[in-house]
Amino acid sequence: MERKEVAFRIYRYNPQVDRQPFYDNFKIAVERGITILRALNYIKEHLEPRLTFRAFCQAGICGSCAVRINGVSKLACTTQVWDELTGSGDDPILVEPLNNLPVIRDLVVDIDPVMEKLKQNYSWVRPAIAEGEMGQKEHCVSDGEFEAINAATDCILCGSCYSECSMTEVNPRYISPPVLLKAFRMNNDTRDTLGCERLGQVSGDNGLWDCAHCYKCAEHCVKHIPIVDGIHRLREEMFERHMTRSEGARHAQAFFDDIRSTGRLREATLPLRTLGVVKTLRMVPLAAKMGMKGRTPPFVVKPVPGIDRVRGIYRRLEANRAAKQGGE
Ligand code: SF4
Ligand code: SF4
Ligand code: FES
Repeated sequence: MERKEVAFRIYRYNPQVDRQPFYDNFKIAVERGITILRALNYIKEHLEPRLTFRAFCQAGICGSCAVRINGVSKLACTTQVWDELTGSGDDPILVEPLNNLPVIRDLVVDIDPVMEKLKQNYSWVRPAIAEGEMGQKEHCVSDGEFEAINAATDCILCGSCYSECSMTEVNPRYISPPVLLKAFRMNNDTRDTLGCERLGQVSGDNGLWDCAHCYKCAEHCVKHIPIVDGIHRLREEMFERHMTRSEGARHAQAFFDDIRSTGRLREATLPLRTLGVVKTLRMVPLAAKMGMKGRTPPFVVKPVPGIDRVRGIYRRLEANRAAKQGGE
């Protein structure tokens, strides 16, 4: 069995005694096939008993061992040490707590912010049965119905996507990817009756429409769930349910209309169509400054060459949607 001395650089912080975080270095002999979690266990058992981290199932199921390894959020129990060796294999493997969550100690973060957001956003199914009938009656979901939410039910709430989300990083109040994924999963559960209420909640301030489409959540999901597809589906559902009064929905509608009519954005009127009169008036000083720098967007936008082909795409999408709705 291939064996090698591997260096680890591990984030340490005990808020009760440390003024600030620091990094500890360890070097241990590791065999090929060993996971980061087993290496952490070895360090804790043999070198530093105070090293603190979470783990339970050791099989990629409970989600408790998520940490950042070489800067990327992953499960320690399913990540091979060998896969994390960089350079000539002598560079230390960096192990840090998840981003965007408060550190309790060393590699352990407080996941209460995620749990609070799940609670606030109806992350459960409310079936259409009377209180007294709960548990008395079966609610069958067909294979086809389950297929629509199958991938989303794989979420183990490990927090990796939360840690990688660029919007959560700049705005801790942002609803966050795992909560949006749960909203998608619940809204597409055929037993559920909370669809509109949940959509209204998730699309409020710091919600659904603030997603920046960076795709980092989906790229780093430890279960490879297409989270952003779920986010897009929630947005589509808002239009299908005619919930189009929020700024986010109006912004999306304005983009949709502009591209269909000219192939370009009509930026000069975008704030008015998205934010309404009062908020747009507040932007007048900014518009004046932009005007002085010669950066005012044009009021008249000519269609791009080949606009008919763009409109053809819209016609085809609309025909597909009509056919799909007819077949349902
Ligand atoms: S796509 Fe949206 S939810 Fe996902 S990481 Fe980016 S900002 Fe966050
Ligand atoms: S969506 Fe993926 S990365 Fe995010 S919490 Fe669930 S399993 Fe973890
Ligand atoms: S210990 Fe359960 S997912 Fe890693």
